[in-house]
Amino acid sequence: MKLMVMKNYDEISKACAGMISELVKKNSEAILGLATGSTPIGTYKELIRMHKEEGLDFSKIKSFNLDEYVGLGGDHPNSYRYFMDHELFNHINIIKDNTNVPNGKANNLEEFCKEYDEKIDRAGGVDIQILGIGSNGHIAFNEPSSELSVGTFVVSLTESTIEDNKRFFESIDDVPKKAITMGIGTIMKAKKIILLANGKSKANAIKRIVEDRKLTTEIPASLLLLHPDVTFIVDEEAYGK
Ligand code: PGA
Repeated sequence: MKLMVMKNYDEISKACAGMISELVKKNSEAILGLATGSTPIGTYKELIRMHKEEGLDFSKIKSFNLDEYVGLGGDHPNSYRYFMDHELFNHINIIKDNTNVPNGKANNLEEFCKEYDEKIDRAGGVDIQILGIGSNGHIAFNEPSSELSVGTFVVSLTESTIEDNKRFFESIDDVPKKAITMGIGTIMKAKKIILLANGKSKANAIKRIVEDRKLTTEIPASLLLLHPDVTFIVDEEAYGK
């Protein structure tokens, strides 16, 4: 694992966007693994700037997102499809049909999950996967548990995640209780992984991974220590400085 400790959120975002743009310039048909949440917003802003000011070209890029709430359609402002359209896709020249976000309204969710993994494999696999981390150490919606799933699956969200995400909803009762998420195995298949973390609330999870260097399903992000090309880009607060 490579660790980069940056001064602040702005520097994290620029470092991550720099790594993505390097890949996109080298491979115009690269496959990006994308994340939602507040953490990657700065990275997306920087990618939009690079597209507008420097002509960074996404016309042949494909993307797969990590997760989506069950029951929310893409036109729901709290859905992750809506987030991706508004925070990134609508502002760059990526072709919408080349962007994939799990369908939270699929009729057969189990079948959808299986097909999502197959679609990623058929496309050639994710070249670079961006991840945030939950304050409880989750990645995507792989929540701390005695067991973790390998492939994409339907998960019941933990109380801590519902609590973390209620800020985006009118009330805690409006937060969906289930989501579709890539499994740890799906995430680990990416050729390169970048995990971003900023702020004090992430410090405990980061410390337990970076200092303890132990694998535990109680901190799902710790399994990333097994990946051959993973970079943690964190700010001083998330590093506990
Ligand atoms: P955040 O969420 O970026 O909104 O902090 C990260 C996550 O829960 O994975």
